[in-house]
Amino acid sequence: KSIKIFAPATVANLSCGFDVLGCCLDTVGDEMIISLTSNPEVKITKIDGANLPLETHKNVAGVAVEALLKAYKKEIGVTIEIYKKIKAGSGIGSSAASSAGAVWAVNYLLDSPFSSQELIAFAMEGEKLASGNAHADNVAPALLGGFTLVRSYKPLDVIKLNTPKDLMITVIHPQIEVKTSDSRSVIKHNVSLQQAIQQWGNVGGLVAGLFTEDYELIGRSLEDVIIEPLRSILIPEFTAVKEAALSSGALGCGISGSGPSIFALSKGDKTATLVADAIRNVYSKTGLKFDIHISKIN
Ligand code: HSE
Repeated sequence: KSIKIFAPATVANLSCGFDVLGCCLDTVGDEMIISLTSNPEVKITKIDGANLPLETHKNVAGVAVEALLKAYKKEIGVTIEIYKKIKAGSGIGSSAASSAGAVWAVNYLLDSPFSSQELIAFAMEGEKLASGNAHADNVAPALLGGFTLVRSYKPLDVIKLNTPKDLMITVIHPQIEVKTSDSRSVIKHNVSLQQAIQQWGNVGGLVAGLFTEDYELIGRSLEDVIIEPLRSILIPEFTAVKEAALSSGALGCGISGSGPSIFALSKGDKTATLVADAIRNVYSKTGLKFDIHISKIN
């Protein structure tokens, strides 16, 4: 039994929701071919488009599938082919696409013995290997689609949120690599009560805005007073990109995951295109290579 899947890119944090909020891109992602075999081991048989380890225990997809098979308990083998389109260290969930895609496909081929929450937990093992931290804010939207909220890590409790129908996302990916582990090391581990109040007000506002499809409220809530001020220094032209996005009509703009990608949410594809043009203008002057994607959230 074998299946070919699309493993989507994701944007984590969404400004105010560090490690808890994320959304899934409709058009950007990897391809994978996953097969069940009778030889009881997990093998990465091919990786195309990236220089990543083939050894199962060093590969995020391999580790995630091993976690699933450990819980499955019956003897079964899996082979994994990965066709990477999302670059590692891009900030749009490259490792999450591989881990989430692999466990989703194996579960499907086994006739779905595991729930989505269980699959998220298996895929988090891949994230732990990639960044040293088992965060779920990329694997959850990759597995559930749309917007997701990790309400709690212990116990794991992930909630799928609503996606307003005209909401579009523009993502610029500067072609530099920022490792999530490095980008996590610049964060302070203590926040002031004042910062916390502002941040959880915004998380609540964003969730409310998504459900009531209040685009203005979504825009006002895309604010990060804790992480963005520290991480933005790692991203060339972050402030100029944000200004360009907001002045061309974006609802909000921030760092995608741990960077260097930057995302902007807009209402409607016309605005999303204007935002892409404005951002392209800023980046064209830097001489850096970059990609821009416009996508629905699905
Ligand atoms: N929440 C994680 C971080 C996402 O910001 O480090 C990494 O893509």
